[in-house]
Amino acid sequence: MGVQKSTEKAIETLQVEKRRYQPDPEFSKQANAQPDIYRKGFDEFWTEAAKRITFFEPWTGLYEWKPPYAKWYIGAKLNVCYNCVDRHVESGLKDKVAYFWEGEPEDDRREITFGQLQREVVRFANGLKKLGVKKGTHVGIYMGMVPELPIAMLACTRLGAPFTVVFGGFSGEALSDRMNDMQCELMITQDEGWRRGNRVPLKANADSALADSPTVKQCLVVKRTGGDVQMHPGRDLWAHDEDLLYLLYTSGTTAKPKGIIHTTAGYLVGVSTTHHYIFDVKPNSVYWCAADIGWVTGHSYIVFGPLANATTGIIYEGTPDFPDKDRWWKIVERYRPDILYTAPTTIRTHMKWGPEYAQKHDLSSLRVLGSVGEPINPEAWVWYREHIGGNRTPVVDTWWQTETGMILITPLPGITTLKPGSATQPFPTIDAAVFNNQGETVPPGGGGYLVIRKPWPAMLRGIYGDPERYQQTYWNRWKDTYFVGDGARVDEDGDFWLLGRVDDVMNVSGHRISTIEIESALVSHPAVAEAAVAGRNDRQTGQAIVAFVTLKGGKEGSPTMLKELREHVGKVIGKFAAPANIVFTPELPKTRSGKIMRRLLRDVSENRPLGDTTTLADPAVVAELARRGKEESSKEES
Ligand code: PRX
Repeated sequence: MGVQKSTEKAIETLQVEKRRYQPDPEFSKQANAQPDIYRKGFDEFWTEAAKRITFFEPWTGLYEWKPPYAKWYIGAKLNVCYNCVDRHVESGLKDKVAYFWEGEPEDDRREITFGQLQREVVRFANGLKKLGVKKGTHVGIYMGMVPELPIAMLACTRLGAPFTVVFGGFSGEALSDRMNDMQCELMITQDEGWRRGNRVPLKANADSALADSPTVKQCLVVKRTGGDVQMHPGRDLWAHDEDLLYLLYTSGTTAKPKGIIHTTAGYLVGVSTTHHYIFDVKPNSVYWCAADIGWVTGHSYIVFGPLANATTGIIYEGTPDFPDKDRWWKIVERYRPDILYTAPTTIRTHMKWGPEYAQKHDLSSLRVLGSVGEPINPEAWVWYREHIGGNRTPVVDTWWQTETGMILITPLPGITTLKPGSATQPFPTIDAAVFNNQGETVPPGGGGYLVIRKPWPAMLRGIYGDPERYQQTYWNRWKDTYFVGDGARVDEDGDFWLLGRVDDVMNVSGHRISTIEIESALVSHPAVAEAAVAGRNDRQTGQAIVAFVTLKGGKEGSPTMLKELREHVGKVIGKFAAPANIVFTPELPKTRSGKIMRRLLRDVSENRPLGDTTTLADPAVVAELARRGKEESSKEES
């Protein structure tokens, strides 16, 4: 334990978590992933995995790797929509439910079978065709969590029209930036969405965006209620090998968003294979990924992966606390999903509200729980397993990115010994490593930069319109090696612990420390619901640690609590890591995808004017924080 003293370390590690969870032998017996999965060769694994997908013309080469560009399943011809929808109808699954959709108003529900999904997609595609959409037409999609969103995505893939989904919480300005970057010709939106009982004016936002998006010639408006559309079925437009499937703009917080390019064959093999093994999906599974379809998690693991696997999914339109804080657990009781996949931020929110909301409902259907989007604090992991998973379910902490397209580091339920806070092992064939500043592999226990040394099927194929930036951002640091931008450490068992974005690393008295370890120490105190940590300049220590803490049950902070938390961190990690300042706050500033915005916390800690706040979910939170931050620092001075 303790901190390594060498200043050469890219990131030091503090290693506080010791709990272990062995797989349940009953689970292991029936699991999709068996231990030999790790012994398969790279080519063997992805050759076998490709059998999951129906190709119209077989591929002739597994992959071609001319760094930084990869191609997968060379020569293959396929259609993504056919793989996600039509082939299931042909194989007799017409009446299997593809999606249970739950609107925010509580009596608003739809059940869509694969047969109905096929009809809806064909109809929608025909509608698009009439508007002039064809192979290669760029389409923007700006919608909420309604069934017409996956339908629109699939209709585009059916026609071979590359699309980009812009999250429905973005403003008109963010929308027009993306329309202009991708040069979209058509936009699909809806009249309005529901959010906490309020109407979100999506069409009106789109109108304002379109005023600044000269390439968009048409706008298709979907009625939220899914009203009748009279169109004749008709189809048969196939797409081709490694065609552009979609662009997804990363939720970059400062710079111009990057349009990440994803293509068809490798992407589909990658997302369906990972979905199958990591969530242990069975033919009768009901699977709920509670992300928004506007983020990559929704693209890969609500739409393309699950549909390619003919999985029944749940889509819920609204927020977890409407009309009350037990809405999610009501949904679980109603549809009886065996798999739930969500983000640490949501888990911490449920923790903050308390377990009594989950306890009111029957959650016994759940068999596998997943987490994605941020490092999960061990305390949140354990809470999730205990209170949602009834202390029986494996929790798979899945690490990946918009760029990677598919999950790359993850436990396989039934095989992996789980450690709260660790994403554990690279998925079979994924060559992940941790490098120091010199590009040498860091030995077990040490921290550094996460890299991937071999290509993988669902990897990004570039940044739209900016090959230079693609090379620079991901490939310039080390030769033919993908630079992730996250810190990580590997422990003695070869398990990976993600340490957050490398930009968030602090330098305290010569120690390079990641924010997540101190945050997890704070969250392990029984009174704390959420914590975020940032560094501020300090004449003595280089940087000093400022912690922003939300207490459970909406409690306000006190000088006693402040002292107690400092001592707690001192005990769990070491005195040097005890925060110099603690700012108590009812909410933390988060992006719309739920990630804590540490850049803004650094501004608050430094008493600097706040940088760009346009990607914040709730800008008021940070203004209040700035006020509390000033108060806290004036206390320090006096
Ligand atoms: O920092 C990592 C964090 O989220 C980043 C990717 O964000 P995005 O492209 O928006 O995709 C999110 C959904 C895949 C990563 O660089 N991240 C994601 N999952 C984890 C994670 N950090 C730690 N553990 C995870 N399981």
